[in-house]
Amino acid sequence: MKLWAGRTGGDVDERLSAINNSIGFDSRMVKQDITGSIAHARMLGKQGIIDEADAAAIVAGLKGILADIESGALEIDMSCEDIHTFVEATLTERIGDAGKRLHTARSRNDQVALDIRMYLADEIDRLVGLAKDLAAAFCDVAEQHLETVMPGYTHLQRAQPITLAHWLMAYAQMLLRDIERLSDCKKRTLILPLGSGALAGTTYPLDREFVAEQLGFGGISLNSLDGVSDRDFALELLSCLSILMMHLSRFSEEICLWCSWEFKFVTLADSFSTGSSIMPQKKNPDITELVRGKTGRVYGDLMTLLTAMKALPLAYNKDMQEDKEALFDAIDTADLSLSVLTPMLRTATFHPANMKKAAARGFINATDCADYMVKKGVPFRDAYKVVGQLVKYCIDRELTLDELPIAEYRQFSLVFDEDVYQAIDLLTCVNQRSLPGGPAPEAVRATIEKTRANMEN
Ligand code: ARG
Repeated sequence: MKLWAGRTGGDVDERLSAINNSIGFDSRMVKQDITGSIAHARMLGKQGIIDEADAAAIVAGLKGILADIESGALEIDMSCEDIHTFVEATLTERIGDAGKRLHTARSRNDQVALDIRMYLADEIDRLVGLAKDLAAAFCDVAEQHLETVMPGYTHLQRAQPITLAHWLMAYAQMLLRDIERLSDCKKRTLILPLGSGALAGTTYPLDREFVAEQLGFGGISLNSLDGVSDRDFALELLSCLSILMMHLSRFSEEICLWCSWEFKFVTLADSFSTGSSIMPQKKNPDITELVRGKTGRVYGDLMTLLTAMKALPLAYNKDMQEDKEALFDAIDTADLSLSVLTPMLRTATFHPANMKKAAARGFINATDCADYMVKKGVPFRDAYKVVGQLVKYCIDRELTLDELPIAEYRQFSLVFDEDVYQAIDLLTCVNQRSLPGGPAPEAVRATIEKTRANMEN
């Protein structure tokens, strides 16, 4: 029998239940459902909408249900329609008639909107914690590699010298923005929809501000139609998680590349690598391939909800029940990805010697060679041309700019002197880029400090 058996008998075809029931996934929100109901019952009692004694019985009953679920003494009945039905039915079973008063001045439409907002706010806190852990790992590893020179790339071609620390801190900045976006989205998530009723508010003298305060919400919704039908906050979270996953995926792609023999910039710990069932020599970066692969799921979750919402007339429509599986999947995926990347990064071994070797080839100090000429008075565009010719000359002779004898330099321009070797030394090139945000060790150290301070707020 259904909670809503009234106009219809409530005896439904099992195939209706198969498509209609949501307890299989919304049971995750049991704690939020109960906590929300406790605040609602307290307010009903305070306002004299139900007896204080009934309110107290409801609050005690709900606390008991939560405690029993947490201890394992009570199992959620998966044959119920949804988590709201289960909690209300269990309460009435336990405390009798008072339990039937809990749903006064409330609809499942504003109830589910409340539950999902509370659930997401809790998950945002957890995800922010995990993102901070990963950002802290980037800072800690970077601190050990302030002078580890490597090539920076554009078009996946060696471009200019940077350090491993600088590369790591780029990802830390992305995570800082992800954290900021998540925290910002939480503000709009914690707007209380309860009191919107089914769609048109309610005739009872509710104290919505009191409920908001009890539940730690920053404010109340100002339109009941919007209160029950707004899922912007959920879409915002899915957008935040899509961007976060895009960052993790870019990092993962680079780690996959770096694990190859072609790069060999990094070796992952055995405990964070996999093997092949046939090729005995293989050590594969499955973690980063999976994070890269799972990113598509989260984009899909965002598309699922955007599409579900796009043509819904006001106010609540059952299509909106589809929000939860998409949200839970995105949250689980981001959680898993962040949780595994942090220890993987902390246990990885980077190979400075291989990075240095890669940095030595590819003429990544060519810009600095041109800048050397500029410092000696040559206009940049002319210097650029000369160094271009120098590079071609070196390629033909299989030399690097560092190996080219000074006499041959001087065939191209008489501004070249012995001090050119110092000027184009890779460490010099990095050290000279000491502006805020640059790769020079002191600049990266400042970025690490600012990043750490930023995460303490
Ligand atoms: N399980 C529903 C959901 O997730 C709860 C709200 C049901 N409301 C209704 N009028 N049938 O959206």
